[in-house]
Parts: sequence; C-alpha cells; structure tokens
Amino acid sequence: MVRDSREGERLAARTRAWPPGDAGTLPGVNGTNEQAGGAERTRRVLSGIQPTGGAHLGNYLGALRWWVDFQDRYDAYYCVVDLHALTVPGDPEELRKATIEMATVLLACGLRPDRCTLFAQSHVPAHAELAWLLECTASMGELSRMTQFKDKAAKGSEESARVGLFTYPVLMAADILLYDADLVPVGDDQRQHLELTRDLAQRWNARYGRTFTVPEAAIPPPGRGARVMDLQEPASKMSKSAASDAGVLYLFDDPATIERKVKRAVTDLDPPGPGTVRWDREAKPGVSNLLELLAALEGTGPEQVAARYDSYGKLKSDLAQAVVSTLEPIQARYRELSADPATVHDVLRAGAKRAAVHAGEVLERARSAIGLLQP
Ligand code: AMP
Ligand code: TRP
Repeated sequence: MVRDSREGERLAARTRAWPPGDAGTLPGVNGTNEQAGGAERTRRVLSGIQPTGGAHLGNYLGALRWWVDFQDRYDAYYCVVDLHALTVPGDPEELRKATIEMATVLLACGLRPDRCTLFAQSHVPAHAELAWLLECTASMGELSRMTQFKDKAAKGSEESARVGLFTYPVLMAADILLYDADLVPVGDDQRQHLELTRDLAQRWNARYGRTFTVPEAAIPPPGRGARVMDLQEPASKMSKSAASDAGVLYLFDDPATIERKVKRAVTDLDPPGPGTVRWDREAKPGVSNLLELLAALEGTGPEQVAARYDSYGKLKSDLAQAVVSTLEPIQARYRELSADPATVHDVLRAGAKRAAVHAGEVLERARSAIGLLQP
C-alpha cells in the first residue's frame, strides 16, 4: 500500500527539522516504509544531477552533501541525468565526457558505490518508457506553469525551445517514481518539480489503482544552503549556466580564485558598525548570502554567524577559508579518481544493473495498470 498522507506529513515535518549532522532529527533514520507492493522496506532515496557545466557550491550545499549523508541512512539511488542534458543544445562528445566527469565529481564528494547505487539515467531505458506513460497523463496546462521551463525558454525563443525541455519535469517524475522513492534530496529550485511529481503520482494512483509511492522533497531549511545565490547578483541563484563566472564558486576553483571571488562579492551599502552584519534577505541580500554560506559550511544558522561579525572583511576572509577547507579534500579525491575514468565507467555500469532491477518491476506495474497488453 502506498504511504498515506498523514505519514507524508510526518515525514515532511521531520524533513523540515534539519539540519542533518544531528542524525536524530533526520527523516526516518534507519526507518522502514510500506511499499506500493505491500512489504515493509528501508526508506528509499533518489536524486539526479545534470552532467552540464561545472558543479558549484550551490549544488554541493543544496544537494550533494545530503546525498552523501543519506547513503548511510537509506536505500539510495543517484543518477547522472544525461537524458535531461539533451533538452538544450550541446556537443555529443562533450556530453559523453561530462557524464563520466559528473560521476567522478559525485564519487569525489563522497558517494560510495558499496553504499549507494550510482548510475547514468540513459543506461536504464525504463526512465524514457515511464516518461512516455506519464506524459500521457500530464496536461499541457500544468507543464506550462513550470518556472524552470519558462526561465530556460525565455533565454532563447519559446518557438525554438526543444519539446524535451517542455516535458523535462515528466522525465524527472519518471526518475523518481521508478524507484518508489520516499525522499528526494534537492535544492529549493526543484520544489515545483517535486510538487508536479506528487500530483502525477496521486492522479495516476487514483485513476489506475495504486502503482506509485508518493515522494517527499527533502530540501534543507531556508538559510542553510537550500538556495545559494550568485555572489555578484544576490537576486539570482548560483547557477551552472550563469552569464559570468565571477559570482559562482565552482567545486574546482583553486584557493586564490575562491578568495578573489569571495572578496569581490557584492555586499550592501550601509556603513560599518554594530548591526551592519545581519541576516536579512530582503534588505541585505548580498551579506545574507555570505552568512548563509558560512552557516551551511559550519552546520550552524545564519543568525548565529552574524552575531560574530561587525565587518564584512572578516566575514569574507573566514568564509573564503571555510570554502577552501571544505573543497580541498574533494579536489584531491577528484584528481585521484579522474586518472582512471574506466573505473568510474564500471561503477556506472554496475549501478545501472542494480537500478534496472527495481525500475523494471515498477515499470511493469505501470504498464499493466494503464492497460498495455503483456508482450
Ligand atoms: P542542477 O545544477 O540544476 O543540475 O542541480 C543539481 C542539484 O543542485 C539540484 O538538487 C538543485 O536543486 C541543486 N542546486 C542547484 N543550484 C543550487 C543553488 N544555487 N542553491 C542550492 N541548491 C542548488
Ligand atoms: N531537474 C533536476 C535539476 O535540474 C535534475 C533531476 C533530474 C532530478 N531528475 C531528477 C533531481 C530526479 C531529483 C530527482 O536539478
């Protein structure tokens, strides 16, 4: 039986009770859950990241560090979503390379192939097949309301935007529903896509009988890395596709670059003195972002961090130092792993084999529920 909505609310409440690091407040630590098939099982997690552009600190604080944390608590599936990367123009050879590179980044961040299932989305064909079935239950209206599509289409013309960009969130729903995922660790920008996934699952279950587990988003609380902003444009989120690199802290920036970017980060205009350094996203977006970054790196809150400073300069130098020391071990491990791309490829192959087993079962349930004849 699919989890009922009260259980969903309890889970959501506990998800909001982050920060992790305090394992006791995490949702369902070592917990079990009832599956669409009826059996009790360990809670399952699924998330994905596109192999496009360089991974940045927003990806790490909003999502990737939780992926690492969750692999020890849940049955975790993580995929490099290469099919999603096809929704915008790109070079085929680059995509192949970027897929291995992103998998290498994930391993460098701390994913362990013996603790989670790491795979490339396109290696499990069930994703594309379930996406089609779900597309036949989704409406033009609900997809038209997706802000990510509107933003990305607005960068080019909507006329030439790829159809895949429009149906992107349905493929994402397929990624999640194929694994009976209970929790989906993502940054705040994916909230709307998660809502759509829940709507599609609930509608399907109501129309065709219980088939899918209805997932919950696991988003860090506000001010703790859920939405890291660009250092130069604190009104926009830090993004792989930013027009300029100056406000983006990439996971592979060297210490001098990190220091320079943080030093030049836009702050707010009021004169130094007591109360200048405070967490106020509306009135002080620049400095609030820096406080949130340092808080997320330290595992504290932005208000606590603000209380320690009365000048931007000291805050910036401490932040740069904290970023450097967080990234150093990741960069070192990346250098090691990237010397052996064949091994990373093997990790993905083994992951896909494991992933295909579960995905195949759920796809079969969906095919049967919607009325397709057995081959
Ligand atoms: P993407 O870069 O769009 O492939 O995103 C990969 C993961 O990182 C998703 O879970 C996003 O929600 C998360 N993410 C992306 N940008 C940010 C950001 N600026 N702050 C927090 N999380 C982010
Ligand atoms: N849309 C997500 C992003 O841009 C990536 C993604 C694809 C994803 N499939 C997913 C995230 C499934 C979580 C679960 O960040």
